[in-house]
Amino acid sequence: MQQHDSAPLNDFIEYPQSEMLERSAEFLDHMKRRHSIRSFSDRAVPKEIIENCIKTAGTAPSGANHQPWHFVAIHSDDVKKQVREHAELHEQGFYDGRAGDEWLEALKPLGTDASKPYLEHAPWLIAIFSQKKGGVNTEEKKTNYYVHESVGIATGMLITALHNAGLATLTHTPKPMQFLSSICQRPDNERPYMLIITGYPAEDATIPAHAQIKKDLGEISSFL
Ligand SMILES: Cc1cc2nc3c(=O)[nH]c(=O)nc-3n(C[C@H](O)[C@H](O)[C@H](O)COP(=O)(O)O)c2cc1C
Repeated sequence: MQQHDSAPLNDFIEYPQSEMLERSAEFLDHMKRRHSIRSFSDRAVPKEIIENCIKTAGTAPSGANHQPWHFVAIHSDDVKKQVREHAELHEQGFYDGRAGDEWLEALKPLGTDASKPYLEHAPWLIAIFSQKKGGVNTEEKKTNYYVHESVGIATGMLITALHNAGLATLTHTPKPMQFLSSICQRPDNERPYMLIITGYPAEDATIPAHAQIKKDLGEISSFL
């Protein structure tokens, strides 16, 4: 290895293997209870919980540790209303045909359409932006590497952290998403990546049967 500054790894926790097995199985059960929902309660969720979950996402690995992401946590009713209006406008065109027959057919079993009331009902929307330029210091303008992969991992960790905190989520990708840049006042070097809606589920929230079909281990993995 080349000469570089480093510190001893002193926060690794080793568990007995029986405990590892238990922990992995318990976490699997916990994650099986994560579901995308599309009907949220307007019950308040403290900002500090959202902050902790974003901090968790911020611990994600990233290309050259440039951390090419920015999270905009939206709580303001006025901003949420703007997001809903723009998203519904764009989604109308998408569902009216822009998506194409194959995509619309694939979405049918989820029952989604252009109406997105949850964008106003949920207490928090988290808009995630990816950065083409940056660096380990925010003000840098270096090239970022593996931006899509890095932001994808951070987003997965955010969803996991929100679920772990006891919140429901929806991953939403209004198409096109560019309107989020101006609403969230983000600079030109950033691209909107995804919108995570989070809060408590509405009492009548449901999970589409289609979404409960998960491929089994044999289908998603091979062991060599
Ligand atoms: C990249 C991505 C984009 C998605 N976009 C939308 C979306 O725009 N609207 C929506 O209702 N669900 C969206 N979803 C949610 C998926 O429909 C959902 O994850 C899938 O049906 C599986 O359900 P589950 O999350 O409950 O396991 C998206 C999910 C991903 C990963």
